[in-house]
Amino acid sequence: MLFKPDYTAADVTPEHLFLNRRQLIAGAAALAAGPALAAGPYSTDETPNTYEAITSYNNYYEFGYDKTDPAQYAGALTTDPWSIKVDGLVDNPGTYALADLIGDMPIEERIYRFRCVEAWSMIIPWQGFQLSALLNKLGVQAGAKYVSFETLVRPSEMRGQNGGSIQWPYREGLRLDEAMHPLAFMATGLYGKPLPNQSGAPIRLVVPWKYGFKSAKALVRISLTETQPVTTWNTLAANEYGFYANVNPEVDHPRWSQATERRVGGGLFAGRIDTQMFNGYGDQVASLYSGQDLTKDY
Ligand code: MTE
Repeated sequence: MLFKPDYTAADVTPEHLFLNRRQLIAGAAALAAGPALAAGPYSTDETPNTYEAITSYNNYYEFGYDKTDPAQYAGALTTDPWSIKVDGLVDNPGTYALADLIGDMPIEERIYRFRCVEAWSMIIPWQGFQLSALLNKLGVQAGAKYVSFETLVRPSEMRGQNGGSIQWPYREGLRLDEAMHPLAFMATGLYGKPLPNQSGAPIRLVVPWKYGFKSAKALVRISLTETQPVTTWNTLAANEYGFYANVNPEVDHPRWSQATERRVGGGLFAGRIDTQMFNGYGDQVASLYSGQDLTKDY
């Protein structure tokens, strides 16, 4: 299908430019709209990728198939006003203006590893809130077992929606216990600035222990369901992209190895790095999958 393995060095940042980046982020976050809490126990202390790298090398098929298409074309998207429909097994269903839905969420910073199924990775400083906070506010009803996410369909502003093999909207989903995990995050900002369009403005999901395709951008619908949601990549090629999509170096993609990855911006001479089980978040999330065979539930 559309994904290809990643074996080239796409961008290069001199090592000295990495220095003090964390301090820069802390400063930028302090200036961001609303109080951003300091990076807490959920953040990595690895050096984040540059803002430029994070916003110029993207997957966002609504705008095209090339990594540079989102940066080039996503500026056309109107992200205000924005509304999100909430439905299914929830106490407070409805169609909410974004500010009414999330205006009271506590904004914090999370510096997460991000690992694409194509075997490249980045370190990204997000701002946003825990998905669990929103779900608790909405009131998840007994019987709900999954959360499904749908993203925007607007071909007039999303040029990639006028053709191609993906059936829009882009869909993703999580099991309810995954969605309630403190690492599952809703991002509204990047580097202390509002989320840029190519990164999923105005709001996207970020699930750092799963392959990047789970982290759906431009969310417009959240549904609490009893049955496992239909998801875009699983529908396109079920043998290549499972519903769980947990980062797992021991389960190769049918067309490439998942044992290693290329850290974007690592420099011309940097080697590949080992991919970690659950993208390095195993201590926190492995218990979600106890008793499951992850070679089958891939
Ligand atoms: N969300 C939408 N709506 N459309 C997409 O094509 N691509 C996914 C995910 N979310 C995608 C999406 C994939 S394949 C990846 S790897 C990540 O977004 C990329 O996120 P980034 O561009 O912010 O790094």
